[in-house]
Amino acid sequence: MMRLMKVVVLLAIVVGLSPSYGAEEYDFVGAKKCKICHSTDKKAGTHFKVWEKGPHAKAFETLLTDKAKEAAKKHGIEDPSKAEACLSCHTTVGSPKPEEGVSCESCHGAGSGYLKVHEKEGYEAAVAAGMVDFRNMEQEAKEATCTKCHKEDPMNDFYKPFNFEEYFKKIDHSGATSPKVLEEREKGK
Ligand code: HEC
Ligand code: HEC
Ligand code: HEC
Ligand code: HEC
Repeated sequence: MMRLMKVVVLLAIVVGLSPSYGAEEYDFVGAKKCKICHSTDKKAGTHFKVWEKGPHAKAFETLLTDKAKEAAKKHGIEDPSKAEACLSCHTTVGSPKPEEGVSCESCHGAGSGYLKVHEKEGYEAAVAAGMVDFRNMEQEAKEATCTKCHKEDPMNDFYKPFNFEEYFKKIDHSGATSPKVLEEREKGK
């Protein structure tokens, strides 16, 4: 009985910790790597194009504006585009391409593990290789993906109250999936 309990406790620890292990285990590859397949209906769909036109793709460029520089000055920061205090929410921290702003991997997880895997081996294999499991995620956890940046913070002078439904609608790219992929999913692939 004791032994069984130990196993259960151990399992709970392993399962409980695995998401953060995942974050450290994999490297960021940058949005250009996703673009190859995610910008045409001949492949995965046009998610890249939706993202590119949205607010997140220009989050880094925003730090180069006068508005950003003025705000940064109040915090004693000379160049916001080089300051960790601003880059932490305006880029994918750890990405080799900070200039891509808040890119795919900010939300979907560092891609080095699932990049090659997810097209060929399917969703479960992708999640096992570090892809964030949005399909099986509670609403609350989905919101938490956003509120790690959309929150009040001493450095976030432009904070606006975050409402998930309203905000998500503005960046929603789930409708960009190609007809071909949808058809294959129907067949249970
Ligand atoms: C070699 C082509 C290819 C590349 C490169 C690629 N993808 Fe995909 N991706 C696909 C295809 C095809 C699907 C559709 C599979 C499915 O959902 O049935 C897909 C599906 C997805 C899904 C949906 C998973 C689901 O089923 O809910 C996400 C999220 C995703 N890709 C993210 C990314 C990200 C982020 C990158 C870059 C780090 C990337 N992909 C790079 C081909 C690719
Ligand atoms: C890594 C940090 C980060 C994450 C994670 C993030 N965002 Fe953002 N988001 C930003 C930044 C920074 C901006 C401002 C971009 C700019 O204007 O330069 C922004 C802007 C937006 C805007 C435009 C707001 C406006 O006033 O027009 C929407 C909508 C939005 N985000 C939705 C979301 C949603 C929904 C999620 C979660 C699924 C999310 N964001 C996750 C950092 C993030
Ligand atoms: C905690 C995360 C966070 C930090 C830290 C942060 N920002 Fe932001 N910033 C955001 C989000 C989220 C938005 C979009 C707000 C919205 O529209 O809801 C934003 C928007 C902006 C905007 C655009 C305002 C507009 O709509 O024109 C500027 C400029 C900006 N931030 C500059 C900075 C600077 C400079 C720093 C560093 C001193 C910084 N931010 C630090 C999250 C952050
Ligand atoms: C701000 C966070 C955020 C960013 C940035 C982001 N995504 Fe997503 N993405 C999501 C969320 C959340 C979902 C799940 C939507 C749902 O549950 O309906 C999603 C869904 C998807 C899907 C599945 C669509 C389907 O068939 O249901 C794909 C594919 C995808 N994203 C690819 C990408 C790619 C490629 C990029 C970059 C070019 C990207 N995403 C950038 C948050 C993000």
